[in-house]
Amino acid sequence: MTQYALALILGYLLGSVPFGFVITRAAGLGDVRTIGSGNIGATNVLRTGRRDIAALTLLLDAGKGAVAVLVANWLWGQEAAMIAGVAAFMGHIFPVWLGFKGGKGVATYVGILLALNWVVGLIFCATWLLILFAQRYSSLAALTAAATAPMFAFAFSGVPLTWVTGILSIVLFITHRENIMRLARGTESKVGSSKNAGQ
Ligand code: G3P
Repeated sequence: MTQYALALILGYLLGSVPFGFVITRAAGLGDVRTIGSGNIGATNVLRTGRRDIAALTLLLDAGKGAVAVLVANWLWGQEAAMIAGVAAFMGHIFPVWLGFKGGKGVATYVGILLALNWVVGLIFCATWLLILFAQRYSSLAALTAAATAPMFAFAFSGVPLTWVTGILSIVLFITHRENIMRLARGTESKVGSSKNAGQ
C-alpha cells in the first residue's frame, strides 16, 4: 500500500512541473497563459512563434509522464507504474505551483502511454499525426487519439491499461471542452494559422 501512495506522490510531483510556462518565461516570451488559448501546452507555446520552445515543451511534458511511469515501475512494479502515470497526468492538469490551473494533458498522456506500452503509445502518436496532417486541428487530433486509445489498449495490452486509458481519455475530453465547442462552431484555430485561438 505504501508503494502505491509513494507512486501517487512521485507521479503528481513530476507531472506538476509546468514546463511550457517555465521554458516560455525563461526564453523571454512572457507568460504563455496570456496568449492564444491560455493553455501551457506545446500547441499554445507554438503560438509564440518559437517552434524550438514548443518542441522542447512537447518533449519535456511527455518526458515527465514517461519518467514517472518508468521510475515507479522500476521501484514498485507495474501497478504502481499505472498509478504514477495517472497521478502525473493529474499533476500536469492541476499543478499546485500554478494554482491548480495547468495544461490539457496531451503530451503527458503520450509519454505515459509510451512508457506503459510502447505499441499502444506509438498507435496514439500515429493517430494524432494522421489527424493533425489531415485536418490541422491539434485538439481534434488529440481527441481522436484519446477516443481510440482504450480500444487499442484492450487489443494490445489488457484490462488494466484499458482502465488507465479510459480514465485519461475521459479527463482529456473534459480538459478540451472549450476546444470541442470551438470545433463544433467552426472557430477552432488550426496549427500554423495566423488566427489566434480563443481564450
Ligand atoms: O494539447 C492541447 C491541444 O490539444 C489544444 O491546445 O492551445 O489549442 O487549446 P489549444
